[in-house]
Amino acid sequence: MATPPASIWTIIVAAGSGQRFGGLKQFSELGGRRMVDWAVETAAGVSSGVVVVVPAEQANDPSFSVPRGASVTVAGGSTRSESVRRGLAVVPADADVICVHDAARPFATAALFEAVVRAAGGDGVAAAIPGIEVADTVKVVDAQGRVVSTPDRATLRAVQTPQAFRAAALRAAHAASPEATDDAAVVEANGGYVVVVPGEADNRKITGPDDLVWAKNRSAR
Ligand code: CTP
Ligand code: MG
Repeated sequence: MATPPASIWTIIVAAGSGQRFGGLKQFSELGGRRMVDWAVETAAGVSSGVVVVVPAEQANDPSFSVPRGASVTVAGGSTRSESVRRGLAVVPADADVICVHDAARPFATAALFEAVVRAAGGDGVAAAIPGIEVADTVKVVDAQGRVVSTPDRATLRAVQTPQAFRAAALRAAHAASPEATDDAAVVEANGGYVVVVPGEADNRKITGPDDLVWAKNRSAR
């Protein structure tokens, strides 16, 4: 009997408040739709289902236009990690692989989702994440700004989302409600083996207003 295809679910986190941007960047207009719509549409093309985590105000607003391709929307929490957990709570128990992706990265491609999902299926692998080589030399500094060390740049990667996880590894790592800026760190801290695949140069996180100017130009290409 053939093995059924793995069930892949994606959580799109879109419940941030955009402090650095100065507003809810995930709903900014970008190429004729909202920023969040880009990520949800790409994820829907490669997933069995998509959970979109939005601010409580949108989650409770019956007139909120649910992104096309979303299977379910839920209200987020006060931190990114908490928003991921709110999403995780509604991912079906039979999901094999769970991807977590920032709504603030509209240009991640379907090929990148497929690459992390494939790598997450490797022997003993708990998670696979995209990373790109670092162009600048990076220093470790102390609270006074004094340089503590200079890591070898060749050993560094700037990491992105989508990040793909074996479902059990992600659920176990989040069980104790840890806080981190990405989910791979949570899985690493829990002893999981995480691999890096090549990321994408255009898969930038829209953080400040200048990033949206860049994104609008990029979306017009
Ligand atoms: N996010 C979330 N819930 C939170 C915080 C962040 O779902 N409580 C989401 C954001 O909506 C975004 C992604 O996590 O898609 C990455 O976060 P970031 O770029 O930091 O967005 P914000 O937290 O909204 O921005 P800021 O940190 O400037 O307030
Ligand atoms: Mg944030």
